Amino acid sequence: MRYDLAMKRVKKRPTKRAGAADKPLQKFSGRLVLLGAGKMGAAMLAGWLARGLDPRKLTILEPQPANSVKALRRRGVALNPKDKPAPASAVVIAVKPQSAPEAVAALAPFVGNATLAVSIMAGRPLRFLEQALPQGTALVRSMPNTPAAIGRGITVACANAKVTPRQRKLASDLLAAIGKVEWVSDEGLMDAVTAVSGSGPAYVFLLAEALAQAGAAAGLPQHLAMKLARETVAGSGELLNQSPLDAATLRQNVTSPGGTTAAALELLMDKHGLAELMERAVAAATARSRELAG
Ligand SMILES: NC(=O)c1ccc[n+]([C@@H]2O[C@H](COP(=O)([O-])OP(=O)(O)OC[C@H]3O[C@@H](n4cnc5c(N)ncnc54)[C@H](OP(=O)(O)O)[C@@H]3O)[C@@H](O)[C@H]2O)c1
Repeated sequence: MRYDLAMKRVKKRPTKRAGAADKPLQKFSGRLVLLGAGKMGAAMLAGWLARGLDPRKLTILEPQPANSVKALRRRGVALNPKDKPAPASAVVIAVKPQSAPEAVAALAPFVGNATLAVSIMAGRPLRFLEQALPQGTALVRSMPNTPAAIGRGITVACANAKVTPRQRKLASDLLAAIGKVEWVSDEGLMDAVTAVSGSGPAYVFLLAEALAQAGAAAGLPQHLAMKLARETVAGSGELLNQSPLDAATLRQNVTSPGGTTAAALELLMDKHGLAELMERAVAAATARSRELAG
């Protein structure tokens, strides 16, 4: 109950339908087909269902489904259906890039004039999808990263000219199930995206490994060095996530002039320090991504 301006007791009116903003897939119409329910596919499935997708609208194509995926049949999901495929509203391609030529061809019967195809395959460009799927298909190529497994990934997406604003919104809603989503209009940027956020988690894990190794070298017991490094990387990441401050300000805030952190940063921020090394590392990954795309 609340009081209106005249101080009468009036029944509280909900301002919006509870949870509607958190359930963008509640209104999904038609059918959604997921090709490949491995690590990424399963993370997306969990996110879609949590975001209001009706499981009866979902078809999963997966030769060796995990038990958790098989269990979704009880909720009405069609798993490897035998009936004649019909065009879906959207298909999401989450197979390994090397399985793509064969796997994507099998999707063709699910793709019609109004179908949106979203790929999360690393290194498979839009032109590959254009060749593998019926001509004129609305396509989105995207690059997620591994924190997607806990819904904390960041995905960068790029659309071809056939994608309508509505389909772009749908692609965003589907990809947001595994974390944040950014769009680029120039597909050429996807190599650098791959090098920064796609491969980036490995750089952060390496930082944790190197910090632990350095702690052990400084005399800490191995297990303590590992724990300190792990918690420091994870906690700092979470602080960066929650803080309105940027990384440079957070760093400056824990660096007293002439103190211990400053002594370490003097080396790390040397002319040939971490920034230079990271630039070379990202350039190498960008070049490799270009090579792999052919
Ligand atoms: N994992 C990451 O951090 C990450 C980051 C960025 C992008 N990606 C991209 O995400 C995609 C999926 O990666 P993932 O790590 O989830 O791989 P994954 O765990 O191997 O999942 C791929 C799934 O697709 C299934 N599959 C293979 N052939 C198929 C077919 N013909 N039809 C239907 N399903 C088929 C595989 O089954 P089998 O196991 O039986 O072969 C497997 O369950 C990849 O293209 C990858 O490049 C992943």
